[in-house]
This record gives sequence, C-alpha cells and structure tokens, in this order.
Amino acid sequence: MPQKGSPSLKVLLRHSAIQRRIRQMGAQISRDFRDEQIHLIGVLKGASIFLADLVRQIRVEVSLDFMAVASYGKGSQSSGQVRLTKDLDTSIEGLNVILVEDILDTGLTLSYLYRVLQQRKPKTLRIAALLDKPERRIKEVKADYVGFQIPNEFVVGYGLDYAERYRNLKDVCVLSLSPE
Ligand code: PRP
Repeated sequence: MPQKGSPSLKVLLRHSAIQRRIRQMGAQISRDFRDEQIHLIGVLKGASIFLADLVRQIRVEVSLDFMAVASYGKGSQSSGQVRLTKDLDTSIEGLNVILVEDILDTGLTLSYLYRVLQQRKPKTLRIAALLDKPERRIKEVKADYVGFQIPNEFVVGYGLDYAERYRNLKDVCVLSLSPE
C-alpha cells in the first residue's frame, strides 16, 4: 500500500494514441496551409515535446520560435496575471502563425499570448493545443486544433510537469497525491 500522500500515476492517454492524434493534426494543418509557409511558436516549457512531434508531421515549409511566460499564483488557483519571460527572436508580421501549447486550462495564458501576438500583425494566427480542459476555462479561448478534450484531473507527462517532475513520461497520466 502506498503511503497517504504518495503520488500515484494512472495512464490517461497512451503514447501511441498521442502519436496517432498528432499525425492527424499535422495532416490537417498541412491541408489548411497547402502551398503556404507556417511559423510555429512553442510556449516553453511544456509544449516543447508536443511541438517536436507535431512539426515532424507537417508537410509544408515550417519555421520555429519559442516564448516563455510566468503566471503568478499558479497552483490550484491562478491570479490571472501572466508575464512574458522570453520573447520571440524574430518578427511575425505577415506570417501564418500557429501558437503551440501542451494544455489549454483556464485559458489565461493563451488569451494573453494571443492578444500579444495579434498586435504584431501576423497574416493568420491560430492555436494548436494537445490537451483541452474545457471545465476549467476562465477566459474564453478557442483552439483551432485540439488533440484531446480531457476531464478536470491533474495531468503530467509528455511535457507536463508537477514541480518540474514527470515531463519525460511518454504517456499523459493522471497524478493523484493520495491513493483512492
Ligand atoms: C501550463 C501550460 C500552459 C498553461 C495553461 O504551463 O503549458 O502554458 O499552463 O494554463 P492556463 O490555460 O490555465 O493558463 P506552466 O505554467 O505549467 O509552465 P510549463 O509549460 O513551463 O510547465
């Protein structure tokens, strides 16, 4: 028996299912931007693993950049304030931009980033999120490409962390801190 409070992991999405879905997402993006170029922007750090797999399923010309944000009061309650800690390396004016996130949760991060990027006059601006937890939404944000809608559970793995742990798991797992 695990001790009360010791973490337990239960697989929610297997690596193979994630890869299958990412192939479909890549095919959809490639169709939507046929004969065009796209600029993928990954939001560090969680999205790095998803982005690495997604970009290899895209069949049109792609360039990459990254941003990082910090949110105050993260944890179970978010204060709603988001701050840019790493900006893009290059201008996005006139580009087909897809903002790539591992998870769309309250929507605070993506609504902030969407606003910031929209002001920089991209040709198009879309959002790709591997996971979507609609129940947690505080700010209205619609992702154009969603991998999986998931229930309101704390998930880790495939880039997602708990106190910086578990990002390297191949599956997306539900983390519980006390056993059922
Ligand atoms: C996670 C995730 C999104 C954000 C989504 O990042 O990668 O950026 O939270 O949550 P929201 O919709 O409630 O704003 P986190 O702050 O955990 O940083 P990380 O990517 O470095 O793990």
